[in-house]
Parts: sequence; structure tokens; C-alpha cells
Amino acid sequence: MFSFEDWVHTHGQRTEVALEKLLDAANTNPVRLHEAMRYAAQGGGKRIRPLLVYAAGALSEDANQNALDAAAVAIECIHAYSLVHDDLPCMDDDDLRRGRPTVHKAYDEATALLVGDALQTRAFEVLANAECDADIRLAMISALAGASGSRGMTGGQAIDLESVGKKLDLDGLKQMHAMKTGALLSCSVQMGGIAAKLNSTQMQYLHHYSEALGLAFQIVDDVLDATADSQTLGKTAGKDAANDKPTYVTLMGLDYAQKAAKDLQETAIASLESFGPKAQALKDLALLVVNRGK
Ligand code: IPE
Ligand code: IPE
Ligand code: MG
Ligand code: MG
Ligand code: MG
Repeated sequence: MFSFEDWVHTHGQRTEVALEKLLDAANTNPVRLHEAMRYAAQGGGKRIRPLLVYAAGALSEDANQNALDAAAVAIECIHAYSLVHDDLPCMDDDDLRRGRPTVHKAYDEATALLVGDALQTRAFEVLANAECDADIRLAMISALAGASGSRGMTGGQAIDLESVGKKLDLDGLKQMHAMKTGALLSCSVQMGGIAAKLNSTQMQYLHHYSEALGLAFQIVDDVLDATADSQTLGKTAGKDAANDKPTYVTLMGLDYAQKAAKDLQETAIASLESFGPKAQALKDLALLVVNRGK
């Protein structure tokens, strides 16, 4: 019988091993940069995006395992870089991340900028060098570049900064969340599907799943920011209100936000119906994302 707990443990470990292999030793010159890159990428984190890569990869027995490992660490590098920059004083100005001082606090701002630069390029390097067919490599590089850039995560972060102190309408808020958070989560699932050589109909179902999951993920992040404490979160609670950010909670209220996340979870799970039991890990990840912190 499938045990989600065991599956998360195994694939979490697999991610840590692949990340360790990808990161340079801390004593590599320039030492401060390499040390800070390890600090940013390791030491906690739920590893939801790598888990999504592996869970989508599990949809086919034919999945290329090297491609899955490359995709898992590449997406985590982009994610880690996005957090390092998100925490900078010119963005959210946060001191705490994953229960430790943020990179610019533990090191300095210039190092934090460079850590982001270097993690980003490392992500594409690992995909370009993955031991798999060139068409898989190229499709994964294209997907990750699109999801990370101005039409994806970076664009969403730009909207987030422009929206400080403003009241977005619900569509505007959804758009921002889909870009700043949904794009990388969708890309994780998409790269898993590419490595698994799924057909276009299957990729379409996965897209429906990840679109719903991506929005649910940021809604839950907004809810937890307003309801949980810093110790539980490992990052500063109440930061959205303090920074006057429009969120699902400020715009629609807590009850609406919680209900919206739950509805999206159901939509995500329903999108997987045609995959049968092979999609169990993806379904359980949708439950995990929406129920975390409860
Ligand atoms: C936090 O992401 C940033 C958002 C996109 C909301 P995670 O909640 O996945 O952060 P870690 O990786 O577990 O620290
Ligand atoms: C961040 O959203 C999304 C990113 C692209 C990093 P938040 O600013 O809400 O993330 P946290 O709450 O700081 O992790
Ligand atoms: Mg932010
Ligand atoms: Mg933030
Ligand atoms: Mg947040």
C-alpha cells in the first residue's frame, strides 16, 4: 500500500542528496559566496517543488530519473534564490527565513544579491547538463526560464511591490499570486511531466492541477502570515499587514480565504482523476499544501 509519509521521506532525502551534489563545497573560492549559497539552499524548507517534480514523474514508469533529479534541484535553486531576494530590505525586508537569519543578515546585502544570481544560473546549468535526451533538457530549460522570468515569478514579484498600500481587485490578486508563486509550482509539475514523457492531454490535466494548487499555496501562505506565529512559520509572522500588502486575507477575509484554498484543493485533486492510483502522491501533496499549519 502507498504510504505518503514514506514517499515524502524518500523523495525529500533524494532532494537533499541531489542538492548536496550540485552545490560547491563551502571552501571553494570565493568562499563567502559558496558558503552563503549553501546557507540559502540548505537548512530547512519543505521542498514542496522538488516533491511536485517527483510526484509528476511518478505518473509514468518510463520517466527519466536523471531528468527528474535535475529538475528537482533546478527548481529548488530558483525558489531559494527568489526567497533570498524577496527578503532583501528593498523588497519585503525580512530578518527570519526557515528559522534562521535571512542571507543578507547572516552575510550582507551584496552577498545576498550574488547568491541569487549564482543560484539562478546554476539551475539552468544543471538542466543543460542533465543526463537525458536533448529534447527533454531543452523543454525543461524553456519551461523553467518562462516560469522564472518577467511573465512568471519575477513579474509577480514586480506586481507585489507595485501593489504595496494599494487595493487590488480579486482578479488582480489572483494574477499576482499565479505569477509570483503559481508559476514555479506549475513549472515543477510540468518538468516532472516532461521527464515522464507524458502526452499533451496528460500535460493539460497536470496544468489544471498545478494552476489550482499554485493559487491555493499562496492563499495558505497569506492565511498563515496572518494567523500563525513566527516560531511555527520560521519566518516573520504578520509581515504582510506590516508591509501593507494586498492579500487574500485583507481583501476577502479569513473565512473566504480558507474556503477558497479548500475549493482549489478539490479542483486540483479532481483534475487528476484520469491518472488513477499513480497520481496518489500528487493528490496527497495537494492535501498537504492546503492543510499545513493546521
Ligand atoms: C515560501 O515558499 C514563499 C512562497 C512562494 C509563498 P515555501 O513555503 O515553499 O518556503 P520553504 O521552501 O518551505 O521555506
Ligand atoms: C513570495 O511571497 C513569493 C516569492 C516569489 C518568493 P511572500 O513574500 O509572501 O513569501 P514569504 O511569505 O516571504 O515566504
Ligand atoms: Mg514577497
Ligand atoms: Mg516575503
Ligand atoms: Mg508570505
